[in-house]
Amino acid sequence: MTKKIRVLTGIQPSGKLHIGNYFGAMKPMIEWQEKSDLFCFFANLHALTSISDGPLLADNTLDGITDFLALGLDPDKCTFWVQSDVSQHTELTWILSNVTSMGLLERCHAFKEKQARGLTPNHGLFAYPVLMAADIILYQANLVPVGQDQKQHLEVTRDIAGSFNHTFGQTFVLPDPGIDENLATIPGLDGQKMSKSYNNAIDIFVEKDELKKKVMSIVTDTRGVNEIKDPDNCSLYALYRLFAAPDQLAEMRDRYLKPGLKYVDAKKELIELIWNYFAPHREKRAELVKRPDTIHDIMKAGAEKAGQVAEITMTDVRRKVGLIY
Ligand code: ADP
Ligand code: TRP
Repeated sequence: MTKKIRVLTGIQPSGKLHIGNYFGAMKPMIEWQEKSDLFCFFANLHALTSISDGPLLADNTLDGITDFLALGLDPDKCTFWVQSDVSQHTELTWILSNVTSMGLLERCHAFKEKQARGLTPNHGLFAYPVLMAADIILYQANLVPVGQDQKQHLEVTRDIAGSFNHTFGQTFVLPDPGIDENLATIPGLDGQKMSKSYNNAIDIFVEKDELKKKVMSIVTDTRGVNEIKDPDNCSLYALYRLFAAPDQLAEMRDRYLKPGLKYVDAKKELIELIWNYFAPHREKRAELVKRPDTIHDIMKAGAEKAGQVAEITMTDVRRKVGLIY
């Protein structure tokens, strides 16, 4: 049997997940568990750089874990844990800091942007890429699927790993970024990129009334019932496409291209499609919420599984840098 590649990915527990997160990140990630040795974790230490409300971070973490399990991430098919439960992440970060130049970190966008906005970045934000490098190379990951915005962090990771290998001898695998150019940006209610920061998102686990309100507020053009419409420049259609079966989509396209379609009817259909699409996941989530102990047990087992892999790397690293005497 050929060895499966190790794919690793981290998600910050930064709030409620929306449909853009689902199709742009979570669904592809969950699919990786079928075809790779998937390592997937909640980057709660990274979230400390933007959240300074303890109960909020703890809630976000538990909520996010519950969402992922409900949406199909299977801890028997992958390794799934919370970053802070595996202390080797922070231990390796410190060691890597000593082979990381200031210049490399000063060139990072997130840090430069904060500085440009006149804010004083703290050391956590400055060192963010070093922690991210540690997350990845601790597990000798081959591939890290990320969005365009994380590309620079992968380059930094490769630099840091290379610098350690150069100084102390071959130790770390240099990971490849897996950037899927075909992944579409999911539009929000106003037609811009769906994002929790733009207040234009449809959350995955939303109440039905709220879902109705949101879908009904999707912005469409002013073409009347008897005018022909343009499916390729319509956020309503772009969202419909994500949920409809191929024949349903073909039929809707046809209705766009002929007189007679009322946007409100397409919206009503979209509400039902979204609601039904997530129905099994909603049920699973409701079950999970009743059993927080089970969730904690799953995460404890995940941290143990991840910790064993991490410890193999760390034993080698400690010996190489001279911490074992
Ligand atoms: P937000 O913009 O809501 O803050 P994040 O930046 O936390 O979302 O994104 C988490 C993940 O979800 C990233 O991998 C990102 O690429 C993906 N994602 C977020 N919004 C969208 C979108 N509108 N379309 C496609 N993918 C998205
Ligand atoms: N920085 C990533 C983001 O904001 C999250 C992250 C932390 C991550 N560590 C990682 C992603 C390791 C991939 C691999 O989306």
